[in-house]
Amino acid sequence: MEVARDVERVIGQAAAALGVTGTVRVLPGERTLNALFEGVPTGPDGEAVVAFAPARFVLKVHPPVDVDGVGLETAALDHLGAGPAAALVPQALRPPGGRAGIPVETEIGPRLVRALSWLPGRTWASSAPHGAAALRSLGRAVARVDAALATFEHPHLARSHRWNLMTATDRVADLGTVANPGRRAAAAAVLDRFVAHVLPRLETLAAQAIHNDANDANVLLDDTGTVSGLIDFGDLCTAPRVCGLAVALTYAMADAASRSAGDPWRAVLPVVEGYHAEVPLTPDEIDLLPDLVRARLATSVVMAGVQHRDDPDNQYLLVSQDAVSALLIRLGTIEEPLTRYRLREAGGFDPVPHARTVRAHLATLDAADLAPVLGAPLATTSRAPWDWAQGRTPDGAEVGVGAYLEDRSVYAGDLFATGDVGPDGEPERRTAHLGVDLFVPAGTAVRTPLDGVVEVVADNPAPLDYGPVVVLRHTTPDGVDFFTLYGHLSRGSLPKLTPGQRVRAGDVVAEVGGQDENGGWVPHLHLQLLTDLLGLGADVPGVAARSELAVWESVSPDPNLLLGVPEGLRAPTPRAAPEIARERAQHLSPALSLSYREPLHVVRGSGAYLYDAEGRGWLDLVNNVAHVGHCHPRVVAAAAEQSQLLNTNTRYLHDAVTTYARRLAATMPDPLSVVFLVNSGSEANDLALRLAYAHTGARDVLVLDHAYHGHLTSIIDISPYKFDGPGGRGRPDRTHVVPMPDPYRGVHAADAAAYLAAVDGLLDGLAATSRRPAAFFAEAIPGTAGQVVLADGFLGGAYERVRAAGGICVADEVQTGFGRVGSAWWAFELHGVVPDVVTLGKPIGNGHPMGAVVTTPQVARSFLTGMEYFNTFGGNPVSARVGQAVLDVVVDERLRAHAGRLGRRLLGDLRAVGERHPLVGDVRGAGLFLGVELVTDRTARTPAGAAAAAVVEAVKRRGVLLSSDGPDHNVLKIKPPMVLSDADGDLLVRALDEALTEVENSV
Ligand SMILES: Cc1ncc(COP(=O)(O)O)c(C=O)c1O
Repeated sequence: MEVARDVERVIGQAAAALGVTGTVRVLPGERTLNALFEGVPTGPDGEAVVAFAPARFVLKVHPPVDVDGVGLETAALDHLGAGPAAALVPQALRPPGGRAGIPVETEIGPRLVRALSWLPGRTWASSAPHGAAALRSLGRAVARVDAALATFEHPHLARSHRWNLMTATDRVADLGTVANPGRRAAAAAVLDRFVAHVLPRLETLAAQAIHNDANDANVLLDDTGTVSGLIDFGDLCTAPRVCGLAVALTYAMADAASRSAGDPWRAVLPVVEGYHAEVPLTPDEIDLLPDLVRARLATSVVMAGVQHRDDPDNQYLLVSQDAVSALLIRLGTIEEPLTRYRLREAGGFDPVPHARTVRAHLATLDAADLAPVLGAPLATTSRAPWDWAQGRTPDGAEVGVGAYLEDRSVYAGDLFATGDVGPDGEPERRTAHLGVDLFVPAGTAVRTPLDGVVEVVADNPAPLDYGPVVVLRHTTPDGVDFFTLYGHLSRGSLPKLTPGQRVRAGDVVAEVGGQDENGGWVPHLHLQLLTDLLGLGADVPGVAARSELAVWESVSPDPNLLLGVPEGLRAPTPRAAPEIARERAQHLSPALSLSYREPLHVVRGSGAYLYDAEGRGWLDLVNNVAHVGHCHPRVVAAAAEQSQLLNTNTRYLHDAVTTYARRLAATMPDPLSVVFLVNSGSEANDLALRLAYAHTGARDVLVLDHAYHGHLTSIIDISPYKFDGPGGRGRPDRTHVVPMPDPYRGVHAADAAAYLAAVDGLLDGLAATSRRPAAFFAEAIPGTAGQVVLADGFLGGAYERVRAAGGICVADEVQTGFGRVGSAWWAFELHGVVPDVVTLGKPIGNGHPMGAVVTTPQVARSFLTGMEYFNTFGGNPVSARVGQAVLDVVVDERLRAHAGRLGRRLLGDLRAVGERHPLVGDVRGAGLFLGVELVTDRTARTPAGAAAAAVVEAVKRRGVLLSSDGPDHNVLKIKPPMVLSDADGDLLVRALDEALTEVENSV
């Protein structure tokens, strides 16, 4: 038998047999003897034993019977090493051309030795308490490794493995090895339930290879507390993938439960969220998790009994045992319904599965089907704060209302602590009101709005509790039960009801109680709708933790479904950044990115500033959409006024729409005079493509390299930034890319003739296959390409050539338009060209979603093919009024002149900053559309993408928002609201100067 004191010696012998020399640290192991080696892994003949040297690596000494297991593990690590989860797992090392497991002789007989690369990091067990981010990263890591294992096949995978949850029933036979009677009974109950209810459901799920052992000794974290590795593939087995998550949850929960008295399931919900974000879970899988966790705990308890019997000295077997056993007993056999709902919410599903049926049933009832709870419809309710002393609202409404979900600081006492820690790190309290309060005189009759059955009649007299309370059960036509709860009743009215008694809609069930009997409140009815009583009867909570609103809104939907008050009874639910981020991860696509390492939670904007939830102002240099300033009052007023009058489509005569078209066209040179109103820049460019196709009969398009023209399928195809970028599918045949005429970094520097020769080449290529260009799309100052000021003479030359070849020229002014470049309304004017089509977006509505295409009568005429052009929202009167207001503000506030003057000043100041900082390679742009290109070497012009990202973060620390772009992400973009002041400009220059110093000093 391999006893602890022998381990070091045996490992030494194994290492010596391999000729490995160095320092040894024994590591824990269950079946294998493990050691960390720091030394030179060379064999007896001087050959390298492993693939690198000198190094840190792990030596594992196996019993010879493990030969198939070693082969399986090695194959799995090789498989993972070649896939997307490679960074999370060790590499199986082997001598060049050799096998991973090498037979050696030791004092305890023949053994197999193998080497694995050393993954740095601290184990989960040895780290501090784990926050939500660490737990989320654990879920992600397990999901990524198991997802990569989904395609792993190996003959030995089919072996029976005692840690495979699919074989948990086999543990029943070994229950007798568990000495502690409490632990034995708990494990027996769980395994009984597993056989009867869990295994049959598990068997319906697809099985695959899973790591199956994310216990706290096998999970590694990096310095930031993020899970960086999973080790020990000895328990690899075939099982439904959700079993791998259950194992991770089990140990994370045992750890959390040993540190905190809070709800152990709540503590590990982020693991489920993280897993689900990586590998979406089905509702069935989520539903199985509680049983799987308990089964793993029971397995662990039984296995500890077996192994302790067989090998009393092996310390590894005691890992987590006390915590695991304590948790098994604490979790019992069946979880609370709330746990199931919380888990479903972590997966982004409606927490209570039947809540949808209840809501739909109530929402589709006719008003006449609902009897008024207070005997008459609630006509004169008020949300004004209830005057507790006067017993009415200050505006004199008959019935005061305490809103659904409103914040109740009255519940801030310890009585309402959940026992958990909130997202702010403080003890969490239940303060969000789950019912509505209806303030009426004591003695007012309370009626049931629906037929039902009395479920509970109780008295909860504790202060701040419901006092005398009635719960009724109702049933939807589909047979789904739901409940209504009436609190703060009069004690005298209760004896008239008995549980099980039927009530008809409109029946009086009780009366509103006086302050002396209702829990100490000003007389009112607390009315709550519940899709589940959570097994708590009349103790079901009436207030909940704000961080869990998604769960509680499903358990207790808006009671206005029963009351039908037209103005609604729901309070706004402001929430903190962590919850918003969590919900965003569940319900918005991760394809939407968030800016900044610490995303901003902004709630208000004014002028050139955004304001976060804490009231801090941020100078916004990124947002050229808020062109005339965030929430400009004239634009807001135009939208509000027109919204109150009429909003419809272009199938009617409307003065605002034609006036806007005329005024917009008047900003353009002749012959640009026909306007199409659309909803976005992408849509504008899509329509421009259609116009070009219709006008030329051709389908080929020329674009500038790195250009971005929008997110529609048609437009991705003419956007090299996308089709050549991450996830892109390459250049479509019909798209032809002109090298970016970038004087600083372009292939031909500032030599416009050379770029024009490239245009000639592309046009000649088309002609050679009897094709013509339909269009040439270009921004006059390309934005995503890095705020490039095009080589002088290029744009005019390109327009001439494309037109000569039969194509039309489209100027994308989505970024640069509406006077941003200073002297001119449009950036193309800086080049002395007149396009055939101009596309507009972003600033056009100052944030109101709209876009436009302006073209010539000739091109517009070609579009008259007989097919109607109808755009539901494009050209609606509200947008037209908003568009006019933007034009008005640009003119009235003289913003073009302002942009020109401030832009020139900033160019000068930023160039002066550039002189002082070697990181700055180029400063360029026009008006308030500027770029600062960062390089690591001014001569070689090596792009400094990482430095640009660091500068963006560093200026943010100084309250200034910037972003970076360009093919190498090394160009800082400056395109603020046009109302940027000189003082704001000073702040930018100072912040950038300091940030550059900070970043330069940190390299
Ligand atoms: C030059 C250019 N064209 C078109 C678009 C697409 O505009 P939208 O996102 O409004 O569809 C963008 C958006 O960033 C753009 O930068």
